[in-house]
Amino acid sequence: MNSLPPGPKGKLITGVMREFNRDTLGFIERLQRDYGDVVRSRFLYLYAYFLYNPADIETLLTTEAKSYRKARSLRSPFFYRLVGNGLVTSEGDFWRRQRRLAQPAFHRQRISSYGNIMVQYAQRAMTNWKDGEERDISRDMTRLALEVVVKTLFNSDVSNDADHVGAILSQIVKPFASQATLKWIADNRLPTPDHRRYFKAVSEIDRIVYRIIAERRASGSDEGDLLSMLLQAQDEDGSQMSDAQLRDEVMTLFLAGHETTALTLSWSWYLLAMHPHAEQKFHAELNEVLGGRAPDVSDLPNLKYTETIAKEAMRLYPPAYAVGREAIEDTEIGGYRVPRGTQLFAFQWVTHRDPRYFERPNEFEPERWASESIQRLPKYAYFPFGGGPRQCIGNYFAMMEVVLLMATIGQRFRFLLAEGFQMEVLPVLSLRPKNGIKVKLFHRAHDTAPLVDRERFSATL
Ligand code: HEM
Repeated sequence: MNSLPPGPKGKLITGVMREFNRDTLGFIERLQRDYGDVVRSRFLYLYAYFLYNPADIETLLTTEAKSYRKARSLRSPFFYRLVGNGLVTSEGDFWRRQRRLAQPAFHRQRISSYGNIMVQYAQRAMTNWKDGEERDISRDMTRLALEVVVKTLFNSDVSNDADHVGAILSQIVKPFASQATLKWIADNRLPTPDHRRYFKAVSEIDRIVYRIIAERRASGSDEGDLLSMLLQAQDEDGSQMSDAQLRDEVMTLFLAGHETTALTLSWSWYLLAMHPHAEQKFHAELNEVLGGRAPDVSDLPNLKYTETIAKEAMRLYPPAYAVGREAIEDTEIGGYRVPRGTQLFAFQWVTHRDPRYFERPNEFEPERWASESIQRLPKYAYFPFGGGPRQCIGNYFAMMEVVLLMATIGQRFRFLLAEGFQMEVLPVLSLRPKNGIKVKLFHRAHDTAPLVDRERFSATL
């Protein structure tokens, strides 16, 4: 048990930092091939273990979760200034209390009441879409998911303050694109122009969010939105969240609650555009279950194929492609010693495509989720929402949103990839399409679109 895991030596000072940044996904795949299921590498002075085995991932996230806290990358001054001590970043008793207080806002029943908002917003988003035009569908999905989260958080429409917050937010997530680089470290600690711009933008959002909280406290009204739930939440001793804590949770939900969902939708449209057979089955389900009317939450149990498309999209293109932790004590994992302070990562990107767990791992096959072999899947061979105590609190919200928006949009439009479009994945905080997802729209009422030539695209999967 005294041994440390194998791994690359790396450069004298920076370790594997440059290799990791040059081709993150290729690098993490290569390490498993070259060194096995537990790999040790060094980023400057920090040691990191990469875990590729579902049993070890379970140890990290669930069984031995108490030996770990969130990874250091989440504790950077940049990130802290934005989300503070919100649910994603807080730890220990403080996190436990916050999770307890926030949980009721995510109960199925409560979340289900947002179904109609989701459908209406999707319908509204399509009003300007024209048959035959080209669009970046990932931009449309980001905008739509932002509108939904703004409405469900603040019960306010995008035309006022919240829209302003969204616009600033989408600008300031840019610095996160360069994580684990020397520039990232400098921007975090020194008053570089990016640093100053970022902190100024966050102050602007603070002012707006604090004002909304103050107005809502003063009016005392229950708007039925997430903010009202958080405002009313009381711990057993009667204590409630302070303004600063509410602000941190609102910012956290803002960030965690829209981009990941938008990405799941974008990747789903991309995969459907490449797989006409799956697309036909999707349309057949929509015709059979909805027959042209708008969906609502009561349709969810019948939109099973639609749900498996989303699950399969999150397998191949997991929006959260990695989860990270730091050991808070000396411990062990996978038969190796883990010194305190070690950063540990599990990669959905790699494990979701591991041929030991998934047949034809690089193929898009929504049907696999209805097969018997999926019942035998180790628990952490598929973990798009993480797991254990820190599992995503919004997973039901997200799945409901994805299925309802797909059903609403898929009834009216289908998409083909635009001529010449090349998909490239960009692993930053989440797994994004670097050049967006450029598609040509076809209104299904007068559907004359050709079936896509699958061979042409299969190389990009
Ligand atoms: C497809 C969409 C989504 C994906 C793939 C996703 C993924 C994840 C993952 C992997 C984690 C765990 C991170 C870790 O263990 O370090 C997480 C946590 C979290 N997510 Fe999501 N998420 C999604 C949607 C949402 C939505 C819609 C919301 C809120 C409206 C949300 C709010 C949160 C929060 C608050 C946490 C922290 C929970 C805690 O630590 O107690 N997420 N998410």
